[in-house]
Formats: sequence, C-alpha cells, structure tokens
Amino acid sequence: MPPPAPEVAAGLFGNRAGDAARFVDMLAGEGMQRGLIGPREVSRLWDRHVLNSAALGELIAPGCRVLDVGSGAGLPGVALALARPDLTIALLEPMARRTTWLQEVATVLDLPVEVHRGRAEDHTVSTDWDVVTGRAVAPLGRLAGWCMPLLRPGGQLLAVKGASAREEASRDREEVYRAGGCGIEIVECGASLVDPPATVVIVSRRRGDADRPARRRKDR
Ligand SMILES: C[S@@+](CC[C@H](N)C(=O)[O-])C[C@H]1O[C@@H](n2cnc3c(N)ncnc32)[C@H](O)[C@@H]1O
Repeated sequence: MPPPAPEVAAGLFGNRAGDAARFVDMLAGEGMQRGLIGPREVSRLWDRHVLNSAALGELIAPGCRVLDVGSGAGLPGVALALARPDLTIALLEPMARRTTWLQEVATVLDLPVEVHRGRAEDHTVSTDWDVVTGRAVAPLGRLAGWCMPLLRPGGQLLAVKGASAREEASRDREEVYRAGGCGIEIVECGASLVDPPATVVIVSRRRGDADRPARRRKDR
C-alpha cells in the first residue's frame, strides 16, 4: 500500500490531485506487478518519485514544449504533466512494455501526453524542444550527447541527479561542451515539497550556427 497523499500534493497538483493519487496507486499496484517499480519503492512513491519529479516544474517556463527522455514508469514526465497542464509533454522510452504502460496511464488519467517508442539518439526523434528532461537515464556526458541535438538553440536539458551531480558535472564537462552544451549549472528544486530537494543539472544548448551539434533535423 502506498502512503496517503501528503498535504503539499493538493496545492501542487490542483484539480489533478486526485489523478496524481491515482497514478501513485497504479504504480504501487499494476506498476509494481509488471516490474516498472521495485517493491522497495512503494512506500516512498510520493516523496522520492512523484513529488521529486513534479518539483522540476519550478525550473520550466510557462507553455514550454518538453520531451522526457527515458520515462520508464512515467517519471518525471507524467508527474510533470499532472502538475503543469500548461506544458506540452512527450514521453520517449525505448522499451515496448514501458511505452504500453505509459499509454495506459495517459488513457486512464486522460492526460494529453504523446508517448513515443525510441531511443534519444535515434535520428527519428523530433527536435527543437524547449526543454528535455532525463532522470536516472545515463551519465551526464552521454545524456548531453543524446539530448543537445534534440533541443532548440538556447533550450535546456534538465538532468535529475542525486548526490553524484557535482562529480558528474566536473567529470563530463568536456563531453557536454563537445555535444553543444554550455553553462552547466547545478540547482536544487522542490525544497517546499520534498526533503531532500531534487538536485538537477541544467545544461543549455549553445546558440549560433558555428556551435550547432552535428545532427540531422527531422522535418515535422
Ligand atoms: C533507470 S530507468 C529510469 C526511469 C525513469 N526516468 C525514472 O526516473 O524512474 C532508465 C530508463 O531509461 C530508458 N533508456 C535507456 N537508454 C535510453 C536511451 N538511449 N534513450 C531513451 N531512453 C533510454 C530505459 O529504458 C529506462 O526506462
């Protein structure tokens, strides 16, 4: 059984608070049975997963187009979509059983998210996103290599990292730069929602043609 919804959920999710609780129930039930969430995560679904994911909304401007890379069970993408109905959100995930799950969640919650099956580095993934999110998907340098080409110039990768944020940022700085990223910043968000707050590495895609990462654009 998941713990009951914390008080902060009502303010954060507004008229979607019931759907957020339903998402937590789905994760704790079917999600766990189908191997999308480990049994040990059930008791901490709210704080460690759903609130921690929705906290990313603090870093995203109104009306942005957001691609969540490696959504898995729907984190952070589904939580973000529930908290921020002003955003246009797409979920990208390579594993069929996970995209099936994500589509089911979107249908049950009547959530206007697009679900795409694929890998971030596939040339068929659409580009020009304002924001790309990724949580527990890959080390920072590799993630930047996949995601910089998916962003519009000036767009931002929000990589949700834990205690490893600082180490990854300094270790992978060169790789991030080579991928077309600049201005690595480490921020905390969700301090009023979760303890500890979420640690996020923000990488902006450089502006300017000379700096454009080599990647074929897909016409949409
Ligand atoms: C550890 S899980 C994290 C899932 C979710 N983001 C979360 O925080 O619970 C990593 C996810 O990234 C996906 N993934 C791995 N490589 C990927 C790639 N190249 N492009 C997109 N997703 C990828 C996996 O299929 C898996 O669902």
